[in-house]
Amino acid sequence: MKFELSNKKVNEIKADCEAVFVVNKNLKHKWVKDRKDLELLDFKGSPDEIAFLPHKKIIYVSVNSLEHDDLRIGSANIIKVLKKSKFKSIKIGLYLKDLDINTKAIVEGFILGEYSFDKYKSEKIKNSINKIIISLEDYENEKFDIKKIKQEILEGEIIANSTNFAREIANSIPDDMTPAKMGEVAKNVAKENNLECKVYGEKFLKENNMNAFHAVSRGSIHEPKLIHLIYKQENAKKKIVIVGKGLTFDSGGLSLKPANSMITMKSDKSGASAVLGIMQAVSKFNMPFEIHGIIGATENMIGGNAYKPDDILKAKNGKTIEVRNTDAEGRLVLADCLCYAQEFNPDYILDFATLTGACVVALGHYTIGVMGHDDNLKKEIIKSGEKSGELTANLPFNKYLQKLIKSQVADISNISSERFGGAITAALFLSEFIEKKNKDKWVHLDIAGPAYVEKEWGCNPHGASGAGVRLALEWIKSLEK
Ligand code: BES
Ligand code: ZN
Ligand code: ZN
Repeated sequence: MKFELSNKKVNEIKADCEAVFVVNKNLKHKWVKDRKDLELLDFKGSPDEIAFLPHKKIIYVSVNSLEHDDLRIGSANIIKVLKKSKFKSIKIGLYLKDLDINTKAIVEGFILGEYSFDKYKSEKIKNSINKIIISLEDYENEKFDIKKIKQEILEGEIIANSTNFAREIANSIPDDMTPAKMGEVAKNVAKENNLECKVYGEKFLKENNMNAFHAVSRGSIHEPKLIHLIYKQENAKKKIVIVGKGLTFDSGGLSLKPANSMITMKSDKSGASAVLGIMQAVSKFNMPFEIHGIIGATENMIGGNAYKPDDILKAKNGKTIEVRNTDAEGRLVLADCLCYAQEFNPDYILDFATLTGACVVALGHYTIGVMGHDDNLKKEIIKSGEKSGELTANLPFNKYLQKLIKSQVADISNISSERFGGAITAALFLSEFIEKKNKDKWVHLDIAGPAYVEKEWGCNPHGASGAGVRLALEWIKSLEK
């Protein structure tokens, strides 16, 4: 799908179909021409309403406001309908509000809305649309920077394509997207984007005392992989490390998940998928930073050699962990990956993980849980979420929850002694592996809710959403200022 800017008025542009946003039920806007038809269809402009008039070559989509996320979802709704048609091109006017942000949102909406997962379908889901022409009608009346708008289109394309890339990886089945395959995907990303890439196996984990990570992998026939991507810009202003949980399948291990909870656990690699999407995008943005993407990729399975409840594991930083539930495996993998990440002396450490069901219970399916010690850093992350169209919520630490992960036989237990507050106690566990000097540099993002939803929502399709990619890129960009 190509995007074009045009100086012509919408009316003068040649395209197979026109798309019109009906903003906040305002059916009187000059671009709403077919009022009679809309009345016959009982189209009122309520949220997410769509009226496609193929003979008139026009589609009306209602949006609540001209805020960026409403436009993003509106554009996604347009493409979802039109990609099934015979039309090849769409023209759309630019609405004169927050022009740069909104142009980007519209572009993102089209690309995010176009995506559907058909890798395993014999008949592929088609998209007939190959061109979208954005009209700068009213351009002369208003003073805005055309170069900036062009840049926003480009950025929107990079961000949305990287999100779709992350979705595709997370959606892929465990037998295709094994830890080794994920390593290959990372190598490819590196090759195409001039990044450094290292993929380490079991031997490396053993030699580097990453026993918590290694233990999780023991029940699987697939070798675990520690994947490390590096983007380096000369005179980098800041060093950022992004860590991703890459459980290519989480059966729960010997603390086996019930049958229904195991379905969708191919998506337990969504943190890793986000890291791959982010790393693909950062080099295209040419950001003035040094950015490391670190992935702990493994399966959590059962078998004669599987790790067990009652095991005590020694992590890379020397801390001992009592295993009381093998389904709390993500934090074990991340513990060692976070220790590894800190060896590079980062200014910031972010981790993305489908870490807890408790986070989904707390916030519902659509919101990322944001945890960490530094309120300011969390605020910045939450702001980036708002700007990028991802929902977030702060989940605060406290000293009472901290006590719940004590162990009688080791330095720490891998589960809390109480059921409640499970997203926070999991993050407090991770915090045990963050060095004192780094506490305020670290933020943990629990993406268990939004990473994989078995229905369409907003500009997301059924399945993987690519959660975290948009937020992270927005946040990294904000560091440039
Ligand atoms: N991968 C799961 C968390 C999860 C649940 C992600 C639902 C997405 C949707 C994680 O490894 C897990 O199983 N966590 C346990 C922790 C418990 C044993 C303390 C959970 O949330 O039940
Ligand atoms: Zn688990
Ligand atoms: Zn898991």
